[in-house]
Amino acid sequence: MTRPVQALIGLILIIAGSTLAAQSAAQPSSPSVGQKRPDAPQLAPYVPTPQDVVDRMLALAGVTKNDMVVDLGCGDGRIPITAARVYGARGIGVDIDPQRIAEANANAKAAGVTHLVEFKLQDAMTTDVSGATVITLYLLSSSNLKLRPILTRQLKPGARIVAHNFAMGDWEAEKIETFTDKEGRTRTIYRWTADGKVRQ
Ligand SMILES: C[S@@+](CC[C@H](N)C(=O)[O-])C[C@H]1O[C@@H](n2cnc3c(N)ncnc32)[C@H](O)[C@@H]1O
Repeated sequence: MTRPVQALIGLILIIAGSTLAAQSAAQPSSPSVGQKRPDAPQLAPYVPTPQDVVDRMLALAGVTKNDMVVDLGCGDGRIPITAARVYGARGIGVDIDPQRIAEANANAKAAGVTHLVEFKLQDAMTTDVSGATVITLYLLSSSNLKLRPILTRQLKPGARIVAHNFAMGDWEAEKIETFTDKEGRTRTIYRWTADGKVRQ
């Protein structure tokens, strides 16, 4: 191989190498366990539902062992864990905060329900809820509104949606309970049932 040809090949290799490096630097890295999801919308800050309110939410939903309870923004997992522990229901919780998912997994283990529940580091807005028979929410009103079209598109008729303190805009709830919790705070819980019609 002549010197000019060798020099040309070397130059081509250098250019190809630096183009790849620039491309991979420009790629957003996909979030993994241990990283908060920077791409996901913040639907609510972490404020756990007190246990007595969790109990009332699950009772309002009429949870049984045949249900799949999905908590969108699950925090420490108390809602699916209680549904599993008390009713034998299956459950899924998603949250964008890895610390919450770690706590939820530890709590599921302590409660002996790891065979029934699963927790995922995932954005509620992109979570597949088509298998849920009960959805639980403790998110801001604006976030509930963002979820409405997703829920109506995916949920099967008969699936119940139960929300703590924040309603669903102009959706009329079929049941509303307002009560004082064990800490003396007023709480409101709402229930809707999916009818298979797609709405906004
Ligand atoms: C008010 S807390 C409710 C926790 C739990 N559901 C309960 O009732 O105890 C809201 C939770 O939603 C989570 N969250 C906020 N934005 C989210 C999103 N885009 N996807 C999934 N979870 C989200 C927060 O990290 C927080 O843990």
